[in-house]
Amino acid sequence: MSSKKIRISLDNKNIEVPVIEGTLGYKAIDTSTLNKEHLFSYDPGFTSTAACKSAITFVDGEKGELLYRGYPIEQLAEKCDFLDVAFLLFNGELPTFKEKELYSSTINGQSLLHDQLNNVFRGFRRDAHPMAVMVGVVGSMAAFYFDNMNINNKNHRKQSANKLLAKVPTIAAWSHTYNLGLPFVYPKHDLSYVANILNMMFSSPNKPYHVNPIITRAFERILILHADHEQNASTSTVRLVGSTGANPYACIASGIASLWGPAHGGANEATLKMLNEIKNESRINEYIKRAKDKNDDFRLMGFGHRVYRNRDPRAEIMKVTCHEVLDELGLNNEPLFKLANTLEKIALEDEYFIEKKLYPNVDFYSGIVMKALGIPNSMFTAIFALARTAGWIAHWHEMMTDSDNKIGRPRQIYTGRTQRDIP
Ligand code: ACO
Repeated sequence: MSSKKIRISLDNKNIEVPVIEGTLGYKAIDTSTLNKEHLFSYDPGFTSTAACKSAITFVDGEKGELLYRGYPIEQLAEKCDFLDVAFLLFNGELPTFKEKELYSSTINGQSLLHDQLNNVFRGFRRDAHPMAVMVGVVGSMAAFYFDNMNINNKNHRKQSANKLLAKVPTIAAWSHTYNLGLPFVYPKHDLSYVANILNMMFSSPNKPYHVNPIITRAFERILILHADHEQNASTSTVRLVGSTGANPYACIASGIASLWGPAHGGANEATLKMLNEIKNESRINEYIKRAKDKNDDFRLMGFGHRVYRNRDPRAEIMKVTCHEVLDELGLNNEPLFKLANTLEKIALEDEYFIEKKLYPNVDFYSGIVMKALGIPNSMFTAIFALARTAGWIAHWHEMMTDSDNKIGRPRQIYTGRTQRDIP
């Protein structure tokens, strides 16, 4: 904490509040004691509120910089695999060779689901949205894995975090095969974390899945880029639920529910839906016009970001990956991908989008990559959720060790009727 203070003068009274500084980023005013002065801070959407201290991820929205535990996302996407990143987020350092071996075998060894969880899946309609299935099945994990669920025990927290990282991909993949009416494909010991996910989604008893390194690498990048993003809506939800002492499975299920919204994790699905709706390059201008119309709710999906105001570093990496995948699969001339390219070009040259600094975000490209990989739109957010599980468990664990942690309980400015009597 710095020795700086901010003075608030109100109704002839001076109140001094301390200023807090982290290692990077904005300073913050510590308003936690204002209630003693009968004063609240008001900040809908929390655009100017730091809800916690965290050493996991740093985002500089103006520079377009993203660091996981100090490492730039560009370097992580190039040099690491997803399990390196998950280990880093949770433990603070990249794993040594030995640690990585142990971590991979621990996670891989726990990827099977309790056999009775099959019954939970079978309770859903075949056409249930994968996110609805994921919220339900992940939440139900607390009914299957409750042996080591003492949230105040560090080892128990690690064990449940590992279980989540290991089993959420299986749950996501099965929510896809269940949709298709295909049998569940079990995880395999000899496949990597990422290859396993693709195999569980795409192989069937009569058709093995052939692992293509370019595709696997692209999928790995999607997971790395989506693994964490500091206090976004879903991570804040996980923290808020976790602050009540709820079990880790309930916390992550709440994060999945929060991620489902189209303004957050649902954006890549919404992007593809929008492209399918536009359908034809000749209709792009009509949609651009609608996006700019104040009286129309329509927004160009996959454009804009609450924090990144100049560039989204993840979008740049995903754009390169997107071109690699389209080249590898020979899909550059497919109408949908041509449409996406033209829309991106037109929007980037449009005065409205330039002036408001609205650039394609990571979800614009990740949606296109996933479509090219043959992943259905409805699975996009489920993939995002399995990647973000790495960040959620790291934040939940960090919060549980934070001495400042207390139950999240925001206040309000009451605007209703003053007290009155029933006549
Ligand atoms: N299309 C058209 N106009 C837009 C868009 C868009 N995609 N995004 C923002 N604007 C406009 C707003 O209408 C606003 O206009 P105004 O200044 O005339 O009122 C201006 O740009 C500023 O936008 P805000 O609403 O302040 O941006 P905010 O930070 O609230 O929203 C958000 C960010 C939710 C991401 C928004 O840009 C959006 O809805 N984008 C589309 C959905 C999307 O792609 N979400 C993914 C986010 S990334 C992620 O979750 C990983």
